[in-house]
Amino acid sequence: MTVTLAPPAPTPRIAAATDPLAVLGVPGEVNLDYAASAPCARAAADAVAELLPWYASVHRGAGALSRRCTLAYERARQTVGDFLGARPGDHVIFTRNTTDALNLLARALPAGTTVVTFAGEHHANLLPWPRGSVRLPVPAGPAEAVRALEAALTGLRRGADASTPVLVAVTGASNVTGERWPVAELTRVARRYDARVVLDAAQLAPHVPVDATALDVDYLAVSGHKLYAPFGAGVLLGRADWLDAAPPYLAGGGATGHVGSAPHEVRWVSGPARHEGGTPNLLGAVALAAVCQALADTDRDALHAHEQRLLARLRTGLAALPEAVELRTFGPDAPRVGIVSFVLAGRDSAEVAARLARDHRIGLRDGLFCAHPLARRLLAEAAGRSGRGDLPPTALRASIGLGSTSQEVDLLLTALGTLRW
Ligand code: ALA
Repeated sequence: MTVTLAPPAPTPRIAAATDPLAVLGVPGEVNLDYAASAPCARAAADAVAELLPWYASVHRGAGALSRRCTLAYERARQTVGDFLGARPGDHVIFTRNTTDALNLLARALPAGTTVVTFAGEHHANLLPWPRGSVRLPVPAGPAEAVRALEAALTGLRRGADASTPVLVAVTGASNVTGERWPVAELTRVARRYDARVVLDAAQLAPHVPVDATALDVDYLAVSGHKLYAPFGAGVLLGRADWLDAAPPYLAGGGATGHVGSAPHEVRWVSGPARHEGGTPNLLGAVALAAVCQALADTDRDALHAHEQRLLARLRTGLAALPEAVELRTFGPDAPRVGIVSFVLAGRDSAEVAARLARDHRIGLRDGLFCAHPLARRLLAEAAGRSGRGDLPPTALRASIGLGSTSQEVDLLLTALGTLRW
């Protein structure tokens, strides 16, 4: 195979070592697996290093260290809420990650809630929902998604009491294809049927601004480790009523207002603390807030434009490789973030990934990406579209973000073009 590459794109502004959005990495290692876990931004590492000498309890101590930590934790909550467009009265609950956040929401649903999702979701947005949830087929395009939701909600409202709670659970950007889902349109439909919406923004928020108020979504979940803050914090943001009425997600200290001596004699607090039992992940919250602030202070249009140039370079290069077939749900021109899944016809994806790592020091992900129903369907679709009968049963995924360069993209394309078997 030969690969012809265009001239490199300009080096991004974020390359400066003092930039809070510069990412930490290891020279010589090419990381193209941001969608799984993004590298650490300097802002996150610096925030943690600065707070570490002060590290003490949160909401549990009178000492100067503890008071500073409590303040840092609550400021982090405010910063993250502002960054994600929280409304006044919304709760911003620190969790471990998006999976944890969506599981929390699943446990907080009022009895009888019907959840409507699409089969194109990540497992985190498929598996936590209660029995009786509606799983719509993977749509062929954004307009079909909107129509399918409308039809499903019409059916639900016709068949049930209008006061039955309905929650629509949708991703902002697919972790398999990077394609963006029509969140605003889906939310408008949901509103007409008095349904609430939760947005899985794990893959969208690292790439573009996400604002719960502007999108009119009721709940939103993100992961710190995909937002350049790999210290174990995620977030569930959203309307207070269901969250305050629900049993605590983690029963324990910090979630209680009063505990009597009789078993089960307990009054739980309302607010985020209700679901944050136990000592919270202060460093994770502070690291995430530092990155949110750094992103809020930067020119995100410029970052997005740079990423889109790299993405186009990657996809064009892959399209030029005779064996490569891209996976996609909505079509080649659908808006997407910096994620591309593909296969090499006749090649086992796990072996390709291992060769790239061993021979070229390039890291990407292979498999079905914790989205088995979607990935399997897209592999079948790719086989039909390409007419190749020798596509492997799993895929490869390259994903980019802050700090990614055209040189890294070119290294991948060159390596794929020169793999010898
Ligand atoms: N959800 C993460 C991914 O897509 C882990 O790789």
